[in-house]
Amino acid sequence: MSRATSYLAAVVLGLSTLSSAAAANPQEAPGSAIHFDAAQRVFRIDAGKITYAFGVNGDGALQTLYWGSRLAADDLLGPASVPKERSSFDPVGSNTPQEYAGWGGAITVMPDLKLHFADGNRDLVLRYDSYRIENGSLHITLQDRAAKVTVGLRYVVDAATGILGRSARIENHASQALTIDRAAAASWNLPSATDYSLRYLTGTWASEWHLRTRPLTPGATELESRRGSTGDENNSWFAIERGGEWNESRGRVWFGALAWSGSWSIHIDQDVLNQVRVTGGFNPFDFSYPLEPGQSLQTPVFYAGYTDEGIGEASRLLHQFERSSILPARPQLKLRPVLYNSWEATEFKVNEAGQQRLAEKAAALGVERFVVDDGWFGARNSDHAGLGDWVVNREKFPNGLKPLIDKVHGLGMSFGLWVEPEMVNPDSDLYRQHPDWVLHFEGRQRSPARHQLVLNLAREDVSAHVFEVLDQLLSQNDIQFLKWDYNRNWSEPGWPQLAPEQQQKVYVAYVHHLYDILRRLRERHPGVEIESCSGGGARVDLGIMGLTDEVWPSDNTDPSDRLSIQDGFSYAYAPAVMMSWVTGSPNWVNRRSSSLDFRFLSSMQGGLGIGANILEWTPAEDASARAYIAAYKGIRATVQSGRLYRLLSPQERAPQSATESVQADGSQAVLFAFLRQGQEAQAYPTLYLQGLDSAARYRQRLIHGKAAVGTPEMASGAYWMHHGIDLSLQGDLDAAAVVFDRVGSSTSTSTTSTSTSRDR
Ligand code: DGJ
Repeated sequence: MSRATSYLAAVVLGLSTLSSAAAANPQEAPGSAIHFDAAQRVFRIDAGKITYAFGVNGDGALQTLYWGSRLAADDLLGPASVPKERSSFDPVGSNTPQEYAGWGGAITVMPDLKLHFADGNRDLVLRYDSYRIENGSLHITLQDRAAKVTVGLRYVVDAATGILGRSARIENHASQALTIDRAAAASWNLPSATDYSLRYLTGTWASEWHLRTRPLTPGATELESRRGSTGDENNSWFAIERGGEWNESRGRVWFGALAWSGSWSIHIDQDVLNQVRVTGGFNPFDFSYPLEPGQSLQTPVFYAGYTDEGIGEASRLLHQFERSSILPARPQLKLRPVLYNSWEATEFKVNEAGQQRLAEKAAALGVERFVVDDGWFGARNSDHAGLGDWVVNREKFPNGLKPLIDKVHGLGMSFGLWVEPEMVNPDSDLYRQHPDWVLHFEGRQRSPARHQLVLNLAREDVSAHVFEVLDQLLSQNDIQFLKWDYNRNWSEPGWPQLAPEQQQKVYVAYVHHLYDILRRLRERHPGVEIESCSGGGARVDLGIMGLTDEVWPSDNTDPSDRLSIQDGFSYAYAPAVMMSWVTGSPNWVNRRSSSLDFRFLSSMQGGLGIGANILEWTPAEDASARAYIAAYKGIRATVQSGRLYRLLSPQERAPQSATESVQADGSQAVLFAFLRQGQEAQAYPTLYLQGLDSAARYRQRLIHGKAAVGTPEMASGAYWMHHGIDLSLQGDLDAAAVVFDRVGSSTSTSTTSTSTSRDR
C-alpha cells in the first residue's frame, strides 16, 4: 500500500513482525497493529502494552503525538497541530516535537540530520511525502523537495514487548554532492514534564556497568562513545523515569538502546519549555559522510520501549526482546553451556599437555565447553607479539590443535578458541608485510595500546583477509566456539588509501565490514557460537548481539565486585548472554578472598563458567564444584530465560543484594541472596518473591545457605510473595540460593531449547 487512498485506511498487521514468541506468554498482548488515519493524517502503532502515534502537521512536518500505555482503539490522537510561535526566540520549528528533523528553517533543537551541499547550502527542511507498510514495518518518506534529499524512515514493531525499532536511510537525489555532518537513527519525544530522571550506565576496564541516576534539567546530556567501538565509558542504553515515582515495580519508564558497535551518541535534551527529546545514532564527533548523487547512507536502528510498571519491567521487556528478536538463535533461546577457560590460570602459557590436563579435570567437574584463550598462535608468549599471525604455535602445540580438540570432544565437551581478529602487534609477520593495513595518518605516529594497533577493517583487502583467516581456522579445525576479543580503542583513525574527504567514512565502513565478517562466518559455520569480548564489557550493544551468542561483561571476576557489575548489566541486557566465571581466590583484581560458595553463587546468576586453576583444587573443592555445576544445570533455563526481579540492589556498594529469576511459565523460581559485609547484629532483610503463581504451591530447596527456623518446605506462591522468606546470612561475603519448584503441572510452554553437553 502506498499513500492513503481511502478516508480511513486502517492497516492491521498480523502477529509480531519481529517475534513469534508472543503467543506463548499469556501476560503479553496478542499482536500489533499499524493504522493510518488518512483524514487526520495520523499514524498509530499498537503493540504489547503500548500505543505510539505521530501525525503530519499543517506544515507537513512529522510530529509525535503520543508514546505511552495502550489506549482504546477509538481514542482520537490527532490531528497534529503546528505549535504557535512562542516568541521570536522560540520559533515554531523548535517547539514542534518532530519525529525526524533536518537542520534547516528556524530550528534550534538538536537535529537528526545535518548536512552541507557542494554549493554551500546547509539548509534542509524535511517534510512528509508518502508512506507504505511492508512486511509488518512502517516506511515513511520525508523529503526536502528543493534540495532533492529524501529520508526513508522505518518503524519495526515487536508485538510482544511493544519495543519499536527506528532507523533512517538518507538518499541524495540531487545533481550535486552533499556531505552528512550528523545522522541520527531517530528521535524519541517524551511528554512535557519537569520531574524526569535519567538512568545510564558508565564504567571503565574492570569496573564496567555502574548504574547512575541524575535528574533531567534544562540542558543537554550526551551519552556517547568517540572510541570507534561501543566502549564502556557509557553503554548505548538509557532509561528515563518520571521522578518521584521511579521504582523497580512502579512508575512510567521510557527506555531504549542503539544497535551499533561503532562510535555512537545518545543526546538527551530538555529545553526550557520542558520538552524532552532523545536523539540517537552515529556520533557526530569526527563524522563526515559524503554522498555523491545517487548514493545513500543507512543509519543503525534505535530501539525503544515504554512501561508503566517500573524499571524492573523495562529490563524484563528488553531481556525478552533480546532473546526473541535480537540474538542469532531467535526466536528460541539457546542456553549457555557450562564453560571452562584457563586465561586466569595459565595466561599465555598454554600448551597441549597442560590444556589436556585441564580439560580432563574440567570434564570430570561437569563442564560442557572447553576454551583455549590467548597464546596458542604465532609468537604469542606475551601481549608484545603475535597478534595477526593466526597460525598454531608449534612449540606449544607440536601436532597442531587436533590432538587437544579430539581429546576435548572425547571428554564430551565442545571446543572453543580465543581470537582477536581486528588487531595486530607491530611485532608480527602480518604487520611486517602490511604496515599500511592499520588505522593511521600518513607520516604521523601510530599509538599502540597493549602493544597493538587496529587493523583498518573498512578496507576491502583487510576485511577479506580477516574473513579468510577465520574461515580457514574454522574449516580446518573442529571448533564450536570463538571468543572474539577486541582489546583497545582507536587512535589516529586515518584511511590514507582514500581521498581526504572520504576518509571519515571509516566510522561506518569498519562496522559494516565487522558485521559482514561475523554474518558470513555464521552462515558458513552454523554450528559455531561466538562471544563478544572487549577486554571485558566494552563491546556490548544490540548490534553485536545480533551476531554473537554471549558477551563477556568484565575482566573483573571478583565475585563481590561482580554483583554490582552484573546488576548494572541487567538493566540493559539479558542474563542469557552474561557470562560469569568462578576464578581463583584471592582474586587477581583486588586480592579479595572469598569462599568457593560465594564465587559459585555470584557466577550462577548468568552463564556459568570456570576460570580458576582447577588442577590446584582440593578433593573437597572438586566435590563442591561438581555439586554446584549439577545444581546450575537444573536451574539454568530459569536463570537464563526467566523473568529477572532485582529484589535488593548491590549498587553504591550496598552490603546486601538479592535477585530472583522466574520461569516464563511460573514453574520454577531461583533466589540468590548475598551479604558483602555484615553490620553489627543486623538480621538479613526478609525477601519477598515476585512473579509467582499465587494459587500454586511451591516447594523450596536450598542450593546453599540457611533459612530461618520454621521456614515451611512448601507453601503457596502467595505465601512466598507476601510472607516472604528469611535467610540467615552473616559475616562477610556470605551467600544463599534457594530454588522454588511449583508442585503440579505447568500451564504454559517454555520458549527455550535446552543445550546438550556437546553442542556440535
Ligand atoms: C582480554 C579478555 O577480556 C580476557 O578474558 C582474556 O581473553 C585476555 N584479553 C587475553 O588477552
